[in-house]
Amino acid sequence: MALLPILCYPDPRLHTVAKPVAQVDDRLRQLVADMLETMYDANGIGLAATQVDVHERLIVIDVSEERDQPIVLVNPEITWASDDKRVGDEGCLSVPGIYDGVERSLAVKVRAQDAQGQERTVEAEGLLAVCIQHEMDHLLGKVFVEYLSPLKRNRIKTKMLKARREAERA
Ligand code: NI
Repeated sequence: MALLPILCYPDPRLHTVAKPVAQVDDRLRQLVADMLETMYDANGIGLAATQVDVHERLIVIDVSEERDQPIVLVNPEITWASDDKRVGDEGCLSVPGIYDGVERSLAVKVRAQDAQGQERTVEAEGLLAVCIQHEMDHLLGKVFVEYLSPLKRNRIKTKMLKARREAERA
């Protein structure tokens, strides 16, 4: 197992559109294990492969209190999303320290394979539904701050670049 470096907004690689996972094999399971370790280490509830600079359709999630219920979604597709939507605060491991409101469907159904290659459908609501939609956006090269106003987004971009410069100097 290994911790993977997480790309930070506004890194242009975060805007890469992910390709389907061709084969669920040991290489993929190793990536899944590393992504889970990276997500838990960073206290995140979700991580898309895009964020660790692997541009394949793979997401790991754990919204449980005990951090012991990992969900692995390989080649996920949202097959249904509720018309009922709500604005809730979101954060992202690629945009540390920033939280802001994004409108999401309250419930979704997603079809995906698991780490064994088994096809499954996950019915999600609440935090899990929001998390799935957020991570699926990453696979399309979209970061949640892109839902915010250009003014807010530029402010966040400036803040992130400043933080990076300070980290490099330290
Ligand atoms: Ni994110």
